Amino acid sequence: MKILITAGPTREPIDPVRFLTNRSSGKMGYTLAGAFIHEGHSVLLVSGPTHLAVPENVDFIPVETAAEMHEVVSHHIGRMDIAVFAAAVADYTPAKVANQKMKKSGDSLTLELVRTADILGAARQKFDFLGTLVGFAAETENLEENARDKLSRKACDLIIANDVSKPEIGFDSDSNEVLLVYPDRSELLPTASKHEISLQLVDEIIRLHATRSRSS
Ligand code: PMT
Repeated sequence: MKILITAGPTREPIDPVRFLTNRSSGKMGYTLAGAFIHEGHSVLLVSGPTHLAVPENVDFIPVETAAEMHEVVSHHIGRMDIAVFAAAVADYTPAKVANQKMKKSGDSLTLELVRTADILGAARQKFDFLGTLVGFAAETENLEENARDKLSRKACDLIIANDVSKPEIGFDSDSNEVLLVYPDRSELLPTASKHEISLQLVDEIIRLHATRSRSS
């Protein structure tokens, strides 16, 4: 199978030396990429900035901003069988990027932010992606309810939900615990290393793709 995976954070520039970002390390997406390769699939990893080594045999396109990730995904998703969106993409970006380093002035500073493109949301609606679509949901409350909402709004086949309020799982941790949210059911994968979780996710996603292909 041909798999597209997004991973890592995005970096939204404010001026030449500052940016907005988040705590994603890229570990979840990179481990998943390695697990798909291990099972004999081909993987294109589109990643924001991380400190991780790219897993062997993975095709890799580095990006910085949400807009760049949107552009790269729009070019490649059409030839994929499966797309998995593990990246923590900024929802907002500065309205203007200063050309020079911004100087201090006054006691407060207000930054105007504008919405970024919703890449996962665009997969079906704009990119006309027909393959198996898997999103993540990073939640701090109402995990299943919020994930189920994303599943239907973004026309996904599966949402992998993680509770990012728990420091021992989720962002930047070596472990995760995920709730698999399908249209007709949910299933918990209890806390395990991201490596172990990735092996289970590969099995689940490949099984899901096979079921989907049989019924279409
Ligand atoms: O990278 P790690 O440190 O290993 O941490 C892993 C993780 C916590 C980042 C990962 O498991 C995870 O939850 N990734 C999704 C993070 C996220 O931004 O979730 P969200 O609920 O805000 O977004 C929902 C989905 O829409 C995600 O699939 C996201 O990739 C996608 N999205 C969001 C915004 C946007 N503009 N475009 C998108 O494609």
